[in-house]
Order: sequence, then C-alpha cells, then structure tokens
Amino acid sequence: MSTNFERHFQESVDGCTLEQLRDILINKSGKSPLANRFRALFNLKCTAEEFESQPEEAQKAVNYISEAFGDDSELLKHEVAYVLGQTKNLNCAIPLRKATLDQNQQCMVRHEAAEALGALGDKDSLDVLETAFKEDPSVDVRATCELAIDRIKWQHSEKKTKESLQPSLYSSIDPAPPLALERDYNVEELKELLNDPKKPLFERYRAMFRLRDIGTDEAALALATGFDDDSALFKHEIAYVFGQMGNTVAIPHLVEVLGRKQEASMVRHEAAEALGAIATGEVLPVLRKYLDDEDPVVRESAIVALDMYEYENSNELEYAPA
Ligand SMILES: [Fe+2]
Ligand SMILES: [Fe+2]
Repeated sequence: MSTNFERHFQESVDGCTLEQLRDILINKSGKSPLANRFRALFNLKCTAEEFESQPEEAQKAVNYISEAFGDDSELLKHEVAYVLGQTKNLNCAIPLRKATLDQNQQCMVRHEAAEALGALGDKDSLDVLETAFKEDPSVDVRATCELAIDRIKWQHSEKKTKESLQPSLYSSIDPAPPLALERDYNVEELKELLNDPKKPLFERYRAMFRLRDIGTDEAALALATGFDDDSALFKHEIAYVFGQMGNTVAIPHLVEVLGRKQEASMVRHEAAEALGAIATGEVLPVLRKYLDDEDPVVRESAIVALDMYEYENSNELEYAPA
C-alpha cells in the first residue's frame, strides 16, 4: 500500500464515532462496500496514532482495528496488520504477535503482521519473530521475519547512530532503511546489490529504498529488474515502492506482473494497488479486467485500486460511510 493510497483512504468519514467506524470496518451491517471498510480502517488508524495525547481513545481504536482479524478477507486483514504497524503505537504489537503466529491466518496476513512488528521496532517482539522464522511453513513469512529481526536490531544498534540517511519523501515506516549516504552509490551499483542473491535480504532492501529515494526514471527501471527475482516477498516490495514513487515508467512492468497468473497473490495485489495509485488513463482498463480474477486477493485489490483511481480522477469530495 502506497503513501498516496493511504492518504486517499484517510479522507475522513465525517462525523463517525469510533464505534461506527468499527461497525463499518467489520461490516456489521453486511452492506459496507470494501472501499468504505478500508476508509474506516484508515480513519481508526488516525486515532490509534494518538496514543500520547488520547491514550484511551487510541487503545479503543487499536482494539477495534484488531477485531477485523476475525474477518475472512485476506486482503482486508493484511491491511489491518499493515495499519497497526504504521501507528508507532507499541500496544499494537500484542495483536500483531498473535496474528504472526496464528496458522489459521492466511500467509499474506502472517507476513504483514511480522512486517508490522518490524516497523514498530519493539525488541520484545524478537522472540515471536524468531519462532516464526524457524517454524512458519511459508518461505515468505520466514523471510519477512528475517527482515523484521534485522530491522529491529538495526534500529537499536550503535551503527544506526552513525549513519546519515536521506530524509524520506514518504511517511511510511519501511521494512528497511535506505542505504546510508556515507557511500555514494550510483544506480548501476545499487541495481547489482538489489539483485545479488548472495547478499542478506536486509541489504538488498536497503538498496531498494535508496533507489526509491533517488527517484529518477533510471532508478525506477533499475528497480523493475527486481521483478525477475524468485522471492514473492521481494517482488511485492518492489511493487509497493512503485506505488509510492508514482513514476509512470513502472506501468508496463506492473501490468506485466499483475498479469502473471502463477505469481503469488501478494505480488499481484501490490502491483494492482500500485497501478491504482499511479492512476493514469491507461491503467483503468487494466484494473477493470481483474475485477473477476480467480484469486480473491487480486479481485479485491482491483476493487480498492479502482476506488482510488476513480477518486483521483473525479471531483467527488465525500464518501458515504455506509
Ligand atoms: Fe499490501
Ligand atoms: Fe507486505
């Protein structure tokens, strides 16, 4: 989910109480369209972030968001995990640790919960991440845990205090920081590091985020080479980064990845949402085509991406909080 995407869904659902937002999020009425459920989720997130100024309200919001882990939609639940990880509210670690270890949750949900624990950076999450790193049956969840462990260790390291990082244009807390500015890498070197399977994943991600922050067409095209990797986890992050960058040179690469029928749901999902975030005219027919994809994660991603596309391209200012 890109930063644009997030901004889009933070459009306030006017005048709703936290309880009304929860009811929309969990679809109590059975009639809430998916996009409105996303909107309720991102509105609850804004309150969950206020843990210093309004601790009680924030805790309520965390609890209400976490109720959605009982839903069936893999897409919605993974977004719930993402949102909890972005709040900086350490109380979110409790439901996230549970979701990381819960084998009844789908792979993409466990992955996003582990990633979110990395984003929160709480050392007390290391035990859970180590357990999932050893025991989870999914290679993508295990690799996510490896990254999250490295991120938490980096965050609390001596090394971090000595690094100077380019301030990010994006508000997201990422699975890895960009490579530090002490060394002046060119795009070609970063591309090599990005695609070097012998390097630790954390380093490859640092190259990825450095390329994102360079932000040129050349950097975007270097990132696109990552779509040939074997790891679904790695590819989903490239797609996520493209959604943030909004660079149109990524469009043909995202369209190709979305069209890969054998590709993991998380990769196709992130490609669809990135296309929705880029929102130029050529992506509209592409996204419409996936509204009846066989994979429910892709179908739902197309719904959400089209909601964003339509919003970006209309003057509509308010959504009914149905
Ligand atoms: Fe996602
Ligand atoms: Fe993810």
